[in-house]
Amino acid sequence: MPRTTKKIARPLVTGNWKMYKTGEEACQFLETLAPLLEESQVDVSLAVPYTAISLAAQKVAELNASIAIGAQNMNDASEGAFTGEVAARMLKSAGATFVILGHSERRHIFHETSDFINKKVKKALQEGLQPILCIGETGEERENGETEEILKTQLHESLQDLSKEEMKQIILAYEPVWAIGTGEVATPEMAEEAHLLCRELVASGWGKRVAKALLIQYGGSVKPENAADLLVQENINGLLVGGASLQPETFYEILQQYEGITV
Ligand code: 13P
Repeated sequence: MPRTTKKIARPLVTGNWKMYKTGEEACQFLETLAPLLEESQVDVSLAVPYTAISLAAQKVAELNASIAIGAQNMNDASEGAFTGEVAARMLKSAGATFVILGHSERRHIFHETSDFINKKVKKALQEGLQPILCIGETGEERENGETEEILKTQLHESLQDLSKEEMKQIILAYEPVWAIGTGEVATPEMAEEAHLLCRELVASGWGKRVAKALLIQYGGSVKPENAADLLVQENINGLLVGGASLQPETFYEILQQYEGITV
């Protein structure tokens, strides 16, 4: 019996490879995945390491595959003396079409602030890279009943001063920090509640129309076993997958979970 839901768009499932895979390994992955996607009912993208962007983008073109290639971070400056940093236009010229910004590993391990992330979001938009903006509370913040406040603050600060037109380019990802890489996935109800809140926050800041069209992904311990229950939720429009995106077979199994859900 197919499940029904009122979805607004084709879901977008993005693999975030973090610091895994060389360019050659990315190409091998794509050779296995691409032929499986011909009838895919979901949009697919992969955020690969900087050094794999160029090769992965070339491989996608060669395979004529419908897979967007993106980056996992960037600097907010156009160019300059910032040893080890990467600028948006470099990512674009390498073949990236999108960039993950504000991932919790950037916020917590590399101490990036929402203010800095806001500058990067603006720069990405200026350069024509679509941002996937991540927000999410820690386990302690959830236990203290601060989830709503944290999401509100991170969302408003990270998207500060964006116009409605710019907001239409944004993809939002709700990633509860306690669910990332832990195997402890948020329940579909918990995730849905957070997604609904995010949509309401966007509606109050940028209007209902922008909020309705906003694509919001869930991320944190997504696996083939839990993907369908998440995707069926009204306000979940896609998934941001870490560990389970590293093997093409497992990633494909996640993509297939949408097939039993009718729009
Ligand atoms: P896991 O799927 O490994 O929990 O990682 C989630 C994530 O951080 C995606 O950006």
